[in-house]
Amino acid sequence: MNEEERAAQLAAILEEIRGLTESPLYDYRTLNHYNPVLGEGSPMAEIVFIGEAPGEVEAKTGRPFVGPAGRVLDGLLADAGLTRDDIYITNVVKDRPPDNRDPRVKEVRLYAPFLWRQLAIIQPRVIVPLGRHALEFVRKHFTGFPAEGSVSTLHGTAYPAEASYGRVFIMPLYHPAVLFYREDLKEAMATDFRLLAELLANRQPAGPSA
Ligand code: URA
Repeated sequence: MNEEERAAQLAAILEEIRGLTESPLYDYRTLNHYNPVLGEGSPMAEIVFIGEAPGEVEAKTGRPFVGPAGRVLDGLLADAGLTRDDIYITNVVKDRPPDNRDPRVKEVRLYAPFLWRQLAIIQPRVIVPLGRHALEFVRKHFTGFPAEGSVSTLHGTAYPAEASYGRVFIMPLYHPAVLFYREDLKEAMATDFRLLAELLANRQPAGPSA
């Protein structure tokens, strides 16, 4: 599929989500004049970042990671020599949960198929789940990814896995918002982003460490 075809298919998914009246988050979106947030970046990107759900600024603008967590993410990308132009970025849940609460199981189940379709269109070689909700998504949808382990044990390593469209590497990272309450993780996160940049530059996996 060329870039235009991919962009058209992604745009069609956004329209479906716009009309998703069965979502438990639909009324909250409408009442607050929020937008659904599908994702942003090149449909040809080699790498897709997956966050949790839009926050307030994201829901107001319809763009992912443009609020406080987005500023942290931009800093980590810049330190590693990467920019948003290098990536496609999206979330597991496409509408803002009230008061930034965790997405509920029912919401994740409803929105996950849209994320799966986005990945099947973009077909990235590298997938980066940010935080535990995105980690659970990849665990459910990719074979070969470790069945056990949390972000704190799996972060910064590229795991080979199988998608319906072929082989991928999945590198789990801490969610950027973690830095709001765990400043001590700053160095570890910066190191992870640099490893990710190396992975992209070398076209080689960092490989699971012993
Ligand atoms: N946090 C997320 O997980 N996603 C966003 O888009 C913004 C904040």
